[in-house]
Amino acid sequence: MGRLDVRCEVDLPVCVIADNNGGKGITETKTRFTSLSLAGGFIEFKPPLSKNKIIGLKYDLPKHGEFEILGEILRSGEGGIATRFYNLNRDAKLKLWDYIKENITDDLSCPYCGKKNEQRFRRCDNCGWGLNFHSQDYIVEHEKEAFNNRLSLKSKSFSIEDIYRILNFVDVEILKIGKNLDINEEFVGSSKGILNVFSMIRKVAPTEIPVLITGESGTGKELTAMAIHERSQRKNKPFVTINCAAIPENLLEAELFGHEKGSFTGAHTGKIGKFEYADGGTIFLDEIGELPVGLQSKLLRFLEDKIVERIGSNGGKKIDVRLVAATNCDLKSAIAKGAFRKDLFYRLDVFNINLPPVRDRGEDKGILARYFLNKFSREMNLSKTFTPEAIDTIRSYDWPGNVREIINKVRRAVVMSKEEAITPADMELNVPKIEMDIVTSLKEVRYSIEKQKLIEAMRHCNNNISKVARVLGISRPSVYSLRKKYNI
Ligand SMILES: Nc1ncnc2c1ncn2[C@@H]1O[C@H](COP(=O)(O)OP(=O)(O)OP(=O)(O)O)[C@@H](O)[C@H]1O
Ligand SMILES: [Mg+2]
Repeated sequence: MGRLDVRCEVDLPVCVIADNNGGKGITETKTRFTSLSLAGGFIEFKPPLSKNKIIGLKYDLPKHGEFEILGEILRSGEGGIATRFYNLNRDAKLKLWDYIKENITDDLSCPYCGKKNEQRFRRCDNCGWGLNFHSQDYIVEHEKEAFNNRLSLKSKSFSIEDIYRILNFVDVEILKIGKNLDINEEFVGSSKGILNVFSMIRKVAPTEIPVLITGESGTGKELTAMAIHERSQRKNKPFVTINCAAIPENLLEAELFGHEKGSFTGAHTGKIGKFEYADGGTIFLDEIGELPVGLQSKLLRFLEDKIVERIGSNGGKKIDVRLVAATNCDLKSAIAKGAFRKDLFYRLDVFNINLPPVRDRGEDKGILARYFLNKFSREMNLSKTFTPEAIDTIRSYDWPGNVREIINKVRRAVVMSKEEAITPADMELNVPKIEMDIVTSLKEVRYSIEKQKLIEAMRHCNNNISKVARVLGISRPSVYSLRKKYNI
């Protein structure tokens, strides 16, 4: 491996500012650079200064004036010090390059690897570096190539987690994916699975393709839908959410498609539906697996001709919405049972984003927990941390309720913990179940039984909310809100 920067022989005066012999005060020594590159230089200096010491460097560049930068001593000896430059801003770098390029005397050999270049190639045929020093673009191209080389050298010591963290940083901080994502709430995570989700969002958002978001409850399906909208050209138009499970079946059609005055008993006025309301923007159909079969046909028709027909109207209205749908149930098995239309499924499943459960997100568990700990502590003006046991427990716990469960448990712990450091017990993790006894309050008994019955019914009905509602004798919206309450 040759050099990463062009170095040339120079004779440039420099003033070295050093904090000498600890405590004896600052000294300024006038001396000279004997060689110089964009990354550092060799300075005549005696007596030697210790390695890794940070010094100030003041030098005057002909035509450009005075510069003051920091340098770190890499080696000391042979009558001087080899330094690496710090805080060289873009302007100082460009001017330094001007000076270096004028001092390249031997342009017949490659300054990176030394190979003779009598044919004056623009790129070294041995090491591959560009040699067209007098081109306007040389320095920008060189900086990009040198960056890639430096990163490639350094990356040898990166762990796979470091790599994901860096890619996440690049996505969020440099390419600003996160900037758009966090318009509503921040999307946290650097696991492979979640980085893949970011990349899919980035790809699909600018298109008009319908998106089907799948994943367990609490994994961030709604957040993903909002992120798609915020990164699309529709971002200044409405983002309308409708939860197909939370609205009673008999009201859902009017809610989605609207109705005319007098179209059914109680329809005293006309009402526009969510589709019309979302015109120009995005409609997010959450829990699409709960859409009654009759409405599935109507939705399919809409997807084919983009015409909305209000209940009781004679004609329709063409509207322009992008559809994003989400579900936590297995639509393919719903199709097999005749509960979901196959043709609708294929219309929706053009682009599928599957959100991995938190238990498969590795270090994200800790990252999410810390993120919400800081968020709630800030909101409540408290200063809270996790004990090492709490961190271990967070990492080893499966989080069946996913991110929503992390939020609930961390929020509870921030409120409940008496000490500054939050323990596993404050989060109700790994706490042995308290046997019910006579001091158990009625509220606790009810909580425990209700949760248990809901789990049984969900299992029995294969997570089909309509069936669970029938089995338990309650409405679908009630099932939906109980699931949220108990993180099921
Ligand atoms: N990666 C994440 N970073 C930060 N917050 C997140 C992340 N994923 C989800 N959340 C938050 O967790 C909560 C649950 O997410 P969301 O409502 O999007 O999940 P969901 O998959 O739609 O759940 P459900 O199926 O129960 O409706 C929200 O408050 C959301 O902002
Ligand atoms: Mg949701």
